Amino acid sequence: MKPTDERVQQLPHLARLLMVLTAAVVLVIVVVVTQLYGPPAAPAPGAEEDEATQGPPPAGSYHRPVPPAPDTATIPRTAAGRQIRYGRELIAHTAQYLGPQGSVAHLTNGMNCQNCHLQAGTQGFANNYLAVASTYPKMRARSGTVVGIEQRVADCMERSLNGRAVPDSSREMRAIVAYIKWLGKDIPKGKKVYGTGFMKLAYLDRAADPVIGQAVFAAKCQSCHGPAGQGQPLADNSGYQYPPLWGPASYNDGAGLFRVSNFAKYVKAAMPFGATFDHPQLTNKQAWDVAAFVNSQPRPHLATPRDWPDIRKKPVDHPFGPYADAFSEKQHKYGPYQPIEDAHPQPAKAQ
Ligand code: HEC
Ligand code: HEC
Repeated sequence: MKPTDERVQQLPHLARLLMVLTAAVVLVIVVVVTQLYGPPAAPAPGAEEDEATQGPPPAGSYHRPVPPAPDTATIPRTAAGRQIRYGRELIAHTAQYLGPQGSVAHLTNGMNCQNCHLQAGTQGFANNYLAVASTYPKMRARSGTVVGIEQRVADCMERSLNGRAVPDSSREMRAIVAYIKWLGKDIPKGKKVYGTGFMKLAYLDRAADPVIGQAVFAAKCQSCHGPAGQGQPLADNSGYQYPPLWGPASYNDGAGLFRVSNFAKYVKAAMPFGATFDHPQLTNKQAWDVAAFVNSQPRPHLATPRDWPDIRKKPVDHPFGPYADAFSEKQHKYGPYQPIEDAHPQPAKAQ
């Protein structure tokens, strides 16, 4: 072999060595960088967590969102603290103060905020309040206006509690708002956290079925909520042991829970009582079908002529027309929803 040939052969050898060395250096850098800046095992407190990125529940999150609600034992023993405690009390035992026999006023039906916002709005995905302070005031498509916490609370009093709202300046409204703000005090403005609001629930590829839902109701709900969905009143009639699901004492048809998707998401994460989002007791189908059944039963009507001023923003399952598409009221109410969503260039988001 001539010397020139030898040099030619050594060149690729050197190049290979260089490549291996470079690869090793890059690998070391990648490992170090991921250790330092990589994704944390659990979402950091205050991490932005929108519904779409909900993912599987973090370990040990039973009953609790991440971060958990502040400990009520830390509510200060001051005038401000007393107001927060009164707000929590009003949410847990609304009927006692504002219901048909309320000690403060007779404004709402016999239900409590806590019937739907479990554990005073702190249970994970059970209509949880933790992100309210950080995300309100906000633009709501339902009203077409910017809505503050007071207005949002008033909406639930008029719709979910089928009554009238306490005035913004009342001792009761100030206390409810103080409690909700205290709950969200550790969450940075504009951020949501895992476990707030409702969970995400995949659509069925068929319409939710009230007939199947009736069987689910009989098997899994009626023992507490009663054969006619009427609930179980407390002995002194001041409220309910088990709240009504339909009939004159239930939420009206302008309420958020009257939307089949909201009802299905709520019961998937919360019912039968004792269920949680990480220990659900209903299959997705049972949740959708029982939602269809309950929301096809009679209940109070609320005229809401000013809702959804821009009909293009109605959520796909809004049960009342007019719509910006040609799908029927029935399909909007019960589904299948995917074809409706596909027909919208920018699918209306649940509000
Ligand atoms: C019958 C069930 C029900 C009752 C009772 C109820 N709510 Fe609600 N509430 C809902 C639903 C459902 C939503 C979400 C609606 C939606 O997104 O369309 C909601 C939303 C809210 C929100 C906004 C949450 C957010 O993250 O945007 C607040 C605040 C609120 N309710 C306060 C109250 C208060 C205070 C009471 C009692 C005076 C009350 N609610 C009673 C069902 C209820
Ligand atoms: C073991 C008794 C029990 C069973 C079974 C049960 N619930 Fe409930 N449910 C409750 C209680 C108690 C509340 C109120 C929770 C609170 O105030 O803390 C409630 C609240 C509700 C609410 C919100 C308030 C209202 O009245 O609208 C809905 C909706 C609901 N349940 C639906 C269901 C459905 C659907 C089933 C069956 C899949 C079911 N529940 C099974 C006890 C039960």
